[in-house]
Order: sequence, then structure tokens, then C-alpha cells
Amino acid sequence: MSRLLVATRNSGKVRELREMLASSRIQLETFIDHPDVADVEETASSFEGNAALKARHAALATGLWALADDSGLEVDALDGAPGVHSARYAGTHGDDAANNAKLIDSLVGVRNRSARFVCVTSLANPAGELMATARGVIEGEIIDAACGVNGFGYDPHFRPVGEDRTMAELDPLEKAKISHRGQAIRAILPEIQRRVGGAQ
Ligand code: IMP
Repeated sequence: MSRLLVATRNSGKVRELREMLASSRIQLETFIDHPDVADVEETASSFEGNAALKARHAALATGLWALADDSGLEVDALDGAPGVHSARYAGTHGDDAANNAKLIDSLVGVRNRSARFVCVTSLANPAGELMATARGVIEGEIIDAACGVNGFGYDPHFRPVGEDRTMAELDPLEKAKISHRGQAIRAILPEIQRRVGGAQ
């Protein structure tokens, strides 16, 4: 059995990946199994940069293959903000309510509501070298009134193109099928299977 460290403490992210790798000989671990690994600062100015930072750091700290992702929301009328700062747009990391309030405030009187969620996944080998990268994008628009209770982050204010529901009104399986994260994971999956699953 090969081992792959998924550089996250978010059990939802791992559950999705576990289902996709169910038939492979890869054992998934997370930071919960490696509590000594310190967090790395996300100092890069792109999703690619931060995903690579996280994957390389996790691999070097554990000597395992490591998979990391970085994601966020890009709003055209805000020149791509909040972008890589999505988690801490309003100041405090992960304060979804404050982030959403700031987003809607920033768009008062703005007609162009086009936006996208972006997710980049990166795979690093046990020596900390970047071996593969994949990007997923879902286009949509920002709506003022929050709708739905599923998901997290900006989901209640993001309506994908061609949908009449927000991301927060989709159930988790529906979301994974179309989301930026689902796309990025599916795109890097063959690399994981080939490099990690095949690395006996
Ligand atoms: P991270 O990639 O886990 O650091 O997420 C960055 C931030 O982007 C999150 O805290 C959310 O604010 C936002 N974000 C990323 N993906 C999603 C999503 O699927 N729905 C809503 N917000 C998201």
C-alpha cells in the first residue's frame, strides 16, 4: 500500500478524495495523522504558488507523497479580489460571515457580477519536488441575497452559470460534480494513480 498525505485538516476534502481513490492501493493520511507538522504561511500571489508551497512543505516534513490545494473566489469587478486572500478577505482567517458581508458591500451599485471559483491542486514527491499541478474553474455570478445552507465560504452568494440555485443550495454530491475543487481533483487523479499508486 502506498501512502499519500493530503495536506489538510478538513475531513470533507479527504472524504471526497477517498471515494475517488477507493479502488486504488493508496492509503490517505491527513495532518490529523501528523499533528507535528507546522502550518506553512501562504505567501505566494497565485493559487498555483500557494498549492505548491503547501504540497512541498507537507512532503518535506513527513517524507511522504503529498497533495495540497489552494482555492478562492475571483470577482471581475473587483479586479480578481478576493483571490488568494479569499479566506481572510475581511481580516480574520475563515470568518465566512464577515467575508461575505465585505464582498456584498464592495459590490453595491456594481452591475457586473461575474466571478469564478478557482482551485489548484499540487502533488509533491517525498523529496519535496513538485510533480504535478491541475486547475479547476467554475464560472458564475455574485448575488446579493444569501441563499442555501450547504457548503461553506462564499457559496450562498455564488450562482454557477446555467444554474438557478446557488452553490449553497446544491447538495455535496451535486457540488462536487461541477465545482472547481471537484474538477481539479479529477484532473490530478491520473497523476496520483500513476505516480503514487505505481510507486511500489
Ligand atoms: P482554502 O483553499 O481552503 O484556503 O480556501 C480559501 C477560501 O476560498 C475559503 O476560505 C473560502 O472563503 C473560499 N472558497 C474556496 N472554495 C470555496 C467553495 O467551494 N465555496 C465557497 N468558498 C470557497
